[in-house]
Amino acid sequence: MQFKIVVLPGDGVGPEIVEATVGVLRAVEEKFGHSFDLRYGLIGGAAIDETGIALPPDTLKMSQSCDAVLLGAVGGPKWDDPQAKVRPEDGILGLRKKLGLFANLRPVKTLPMLTGSTNLKPEVVEGVDFIFVRELTGGLYFGRPKKRWQTAKGRRAVDTMTYSEQEIARVVRVGFELARGRRKKLVSVDKANVLESSRLWRQVAIEVSRDYPDVELEHMLVDACAMRLIQSPTHFDVLVSENTFGDILTDEASMLAGSMGMLPSASLAGVPREGSRIFGLYEPIHGSAPRRAGLNMANPIATILSMAMMLRYSCGLAKEAQTVEAAVTEVLEEGHRTYDIIEGGKRQVGTKEMGELIAGKVRG
Ligand code: IPM
Ligand code: MG
Repeated sequence: MQFKIVVLPGDGVGPEIVEATVGVLRAVEEKFGHSFDLRYGLIGGAAIDETGIALPPDTLKMSQSCDAVLLGAVGGPKWDDPQAKVRPEDGILGLRKKLGLFANLRPVKTLPMLTGSTNLKPEVVEGVDFIFVRELTGGLYFGRPKKRWQTAKGRRAVDTMTYSEQEIARVVRVGFELARGRRKKLVSVDKANVLESSRLWRQVAIEVSRDYPDVELEHMLVDACAMRLIQSPTHFDVLVSENTFGDILTDEASMLAGSMGMLPSASLAGVPREGSRIFGLYEPIHGSAPRRAGLNMANPIATILSMAMMLRYSCGLAKEAQTVEAAVTEVLEEGHRTYDIIEGGKRQVGTKEMGELIAGKVRG
């Protein structure tokens, strides 16, 4: 099959991890006889330097007429001034909003050979395997008013957490659909004891649950959820939350897998169902790691696994996705590690070599 993919390397380690990932994608192409037509675009700091804005119209246009977008990372100290008029992050936030990518899937899986490289006791993280669904185009990130102003008594600022029932229902539905294909347990995260938007969230979650009598729905307050993720992470199968809660909880959850360098994500514009193909953007959950940039150090696995999610959700290539995931597991089983997951007795490799090893396994 033929696919049009937009590739946005971005900043910091972005270009390196994307290059390693494209190598694996080429291996998939050869092995399975597909054709991926790749178009490169600018985003983030790289786009600011070149065009003055973080999301150039060309990038948006290309992204609106392709099957999927593969993104590295954006941001860095060079563009970090809090007074700055343009920020690299505007690029990714703009893409999410303009492409309608409301459902952000962040799977967290602790691979057996990596239980020793987490900060938690192996018996706590053993068998962790859940998907976090984070709402991505609403809440505090985009709610209006959102501004800073001067008053007689000093400066003030406001952000707004707002949700419509439609915004809640569609993302909760994604949680139910995923749970249906797994262990049939959905945890809906909110702060319904304090926030009005959370009380609506909970009510809508209950209403949507009537369409999924086979899935068990549990409500959990966000603070309790932060604790449970560390205390008993195997409790979870699928979680769904609003945007900011999901941002924070998924960084926390990433530590269960050993490193942020292991965790992929998919941002989808629709509800994934068996056999369907949905437009999406795929990126690692980690940032641009500017201190590691250009050093051939960064772990490309999160981006490679994001590409596997792209094959699954946007290309409808489940078997190919599994092949990439199995290749990652095999290379780790053989003892190859990037710096972030290195342990005694293992062999340290760079970004490039990790990519090549995985591509080699895909070719078989
Ligand atoms: C993430 C990141 C982004 C977010 C930043 C880079 C804007 O932290 O994808 O989790 O806050 O959503
Ligand atoms: Mg984040």
